[in-house]
Amino acid sequence: SSRTSPITVADYRERARKALPAMIWAYVDGGAEDELTLRANVDDFDKWALRSRVLTGNEGQGLSAKVGNTALDLPVFLSPTGMTGLIQWTGERAAARAAERVGTRAVISTASSYTVEEIADATSENHFFQLYPWTSVRTGESLAKKFIDRAHHAGYSALFVTVDVPVTGNREGERKRGMGIPPTLSPSRVLDAARKPRWAYNFLKHQRISSRMLVDERGAAAAVRSAQKQVSLLRPELCWDDLAKIRDLWDGPMYVKGILDPDDAAAAVRLGADGIVVSNHGGRQLDSALSSIEALPAVVDRVGGSGGVPVYLDGGIRRGSDVVKALALGATAVGIGRPYVYGLAVGGEDGVAHVLEIFREEIARTLTLMGVRDIAELDRSHIMRRGASFR
Ligand code: FNR
Repeated sequence: SSRTSPITVADYRERARKALPAMIWAYVDGGAEDELTLRANVDDFDKWALRSRVLTGNEGQGLSAKVGNTALDLPVFLSPTGMTGLIQWTGERAAARAAERVGTRAVISTASSYTVEEIADATSENHFFQLYPWTSVRTGESLAKKFIDRAHHAGYSALFVTVDVPVTGNREGERKRGMGIPPTLSPSRVLDAARKPRWAYNFLKHQRISSRMLVDERGAAAAVRSAQKQVSLLRPELCWDDLAKIRDLWDGPMYVKGILDPDDAAAAVRLGADGIVVSNHGGRQLDSALSSIEALPAVVDRVGGSGGVPVYLDGGIRRGSDVVKALALGATAVGIGRPYVYGLAVGGEDGVAHVLEIFREEIARTLTLMGVRDIAELDRSHIMRRGASFR
């Protein structure tokens, strides 16, 4: 299939797998432990069927959505991915440019390979910033204010606070393949990387960029050393009070990413969150956690709907029909992680833009086939559990 040009996310995945060293592929595509949640994120979309009505005369053209005050031309944004420069050296700069080319935005990770300022310089729209409420290795103090101030000054227009990483998930695939900061190299791993010449060339040429993190350029060495153990920056004792403090540091829209439980969603909204991202970090944290699409309806019932806050979802979105299912179950828009990372690995900025175009086309065609003109019309009447009977 790699002889023909890629036309689906699955095609991009296959090509990305071939382009990347096994160590990097484990980082991109792997999940925690037995990858039950990773698989369920994808597979649980199949438990829903879309209802279709014929001869409606409707063409699916209305795809616009909103995150905060930002209008998006399609209900899909780029979820944050860390160290994206390891995958393809153009990293988050290319991803964000691709996003705005198709009328959407990227959420830029605290652990991005480029700084928030560099990404702002490379783009013409305001993107969104994802905060890890890390602690300084040197002073033991929260870095939240420093990160938030930088994102604010660089023009970022919404804050996504990721709350599902009190510790790093048990990603055994990464451990087996020596993925870490720095990687554990062995002759066979070096050989494997050398067999991916394009990746290896770019990696060597742009090494400084690919493994850098926003955390602290001046103290990057210290940050990287601590990240080796991946504990010093993370604080398992982080709690709701910390979220309240973060709320006070940021004037604009704030979303809490990594929520699966409706009670947590309600707590976040009580503390002033402007919305929720239902997510299990792409199956990279708690294995056996609920899949995103499984968790969505109860969160929407609790905090979403009319009069509620927007509820976004990421995890397992691989087709336009997955997006439509999430919207029918009450999501306002969805994020994609791996799908655009595959595009980046294969084709840099153009690859990411193409993946987003694939989603746009698939969503529009799906709507037309269902007899729906605009995503704003989607609700639970458009979806049924497979095996359920008509009421
Ligand atoms: C992530 N994710 C993530 N989330 C976050 O809040 N900060 C981060 O730095 C990262 N880093 C990261 C790296 C990579 C390689 C992946 C694949 C994922 C999680 C991400 O934002 C999102 O929740 C999932 O990727 C969504 O699932 P899918 O679309 O990959 O199935």
